Amino acid sequence: MYPITRHSSRLALRELTIDDVDAVHAIYGSPEATEHMSFTPRSRGQVDLIVARWIASASATPREEYALAATARHSGEPIGCVRLANDPHQPSAATFGFALRPDAWGVGYGREVVRLICDLAFTELGLHRLWAARSPHNIASERTLLAAGLTEEGRIRAHVHVRGAWRDSITYSILREEWESGQADASTA
Ligand SMILES: CC(C)(COP(=O)(O)OP(=O)(O)OC[C@H]1O[C@@H](n2cnc3c(N)ncnc32)[C@H](O)[C@@H]1OP(=O)(O)O)[C@@H](O)C(=O)NCCC(=O)NCCS
Repeated sequence: MYPITRHSSRLALRELTIDDVDAVHAIYGSPEATEHMSFTPRSRGQVDLIVARWIASASATPREEYALAATARHSGEPIGCVRLANDPHQPSAATFGFALRPDAWGVGYGREVVRLICDLAFTELGLHRLWAARSPHNIASERTLLAAGLTEEGRIRAHVHVRGAWRDSITYSILREEWESGQADASTA
């Protein structure tokens, strides 16, 4: 499915372009933004290659990966990036990651971005289950995933090798029926 566009009241998701390299580097190159992520800060050259790979993945058939820019809806300014990838062995399921520029934190965009990813997964892609994993130390991610309506599932031991050591992950998921009932609750509130 291409191109993807989704929007909420303040934000939008759209396909990445090569012009987004600086915006992605503002996140992937930032020690603050990557503190709890599964990699150390990336150079501009590394981000160039990552964005080029993401753009190429958008035209694969079938499309298995959706790497998108999150933008401020009215200015169009990129404030973050998200990536949803189909589970290779589980039909209709996918995992996702999300990250915002540090100067966009703290005003509810994180929760809004995760809700947009759920909307993409369940409304547009017709998925059944969506899940995400965070570092046990990433409290901002924990609060954001719970605030967006996901449920904590458990711990994957020694899931990620980062900064010279194995690290556990805490996982969260949301099912299609949970998303749909949350939407119904919101519309009748
Ligand atoms: C995780 C991230 C997207 C949160 O974005 P945000 O826009 O600041 O989050 P929101 O403003 O929507 O806040 C959502 C909830 O998290 C809480 N929260 C956000 N940052 C927090 C922090 N540093 N410490 C504790 N709670 C925090 C908010 O208070 C809110 O909780 P509430 O609903 O109980 O009030 C952002 O911190 C980020 O991009 N971090 C770096 C990348 C990353 O860790 N991504 C997740 C990978 S799993």
